[in-house]
Amino acid sequence: MVKAEQMYEGKAKKVFATDDPNICIVSYKDDATALDGLKKGTITGKGVINNRLTNHLMKLLEKEGVPTHFVEELNDRETAVKRVTIVPLEVIIRNVAAGSFSKRFGVEEGVVLKTPSLEFSYKNDDLHDPMINEYHIYALGLATKEEIATITNYAFKVNDFLKEYLLGFGIELIDFKLEFGKLPDGTIVLADEISPDTCRFWDAKTHEKLDKDRFRRDMGGVEDAYNEIMRRILGE
Ligand code: TMP
Ligand code: ASP
Repeated sequence: MVKAEQMYEGKAKKVFATDDPNICIVSYKDDATALDGLKKGTITGKGVINNRLTNHLMKLLEKEGVPTHFVEELNDRETAVKRVTIVPLEVIIRNVAAGSFSKRFGVEEGVVLKTPSLEFSYKNDDLHDPMINEYHIYALGLATKEEIATITNYAFKVNDFLKEYLLGFGIELIDFKLEFGKLPDGTIVLADEISPDTCRFWDAKTHEKLDKDRFRRDMGGVEDAYNEIMRRILGE
């Protein structure tokens, strides 16, 4: 596989074409942003951790019956993935109140939800990724009913698996964001990343935050938190 021109640069990753029209290379950066890119910084080593962790979890999820875009880890920061059209939705699952859920509904952070919740945001930076409901999604033609049913089923499957898996490492899965893509034949696959950038991970005993909230909220100890997650899950 030969790396070709850069197709896209996002806030945390770059995407390159390859000589295979069905394969892209994702390259993870140490750049971190928050508040729609208003707050910028660097989390040293984050790209390596997010790349390796995402691939590890996607391989496990494939075995659980969730198809993903993962093809092959090329090096510490770069991974070959299937070329997809991203469904322009952020799919957010929550087990415990935190972040925007706590703000929107006036529920203290840390309150365990009676049942896991799922919400969608419309991926659109100009509009600041507004929350969107299923009727809006169909009205705008962002995905079909069948696609949303598949995405919803996969998202809860990811939650069921990850929650248990992470608890084995003393990590409580508070909430997380997924993105899905469509292969040329229309198959829906899990795409993007699963990392401390896109999940809230709390220490199961102390409730210490081990994720990007430490950067978002200027709490310090950001690199240590990413390293701790890597150490617990990948054992290094
Ligand atoms: P929220 O509470 O700010 O809505 O975030 C919910 C989850 O989604 C949390 O685990 C962080 C993740 N997330 C992203 O991955 N990207 C984003 O742009 C935002 C706002 C949240
Ligand atoms: N990555 C997002 C941004 O820069 C926000 C976040 O993760 O909090 O807007």
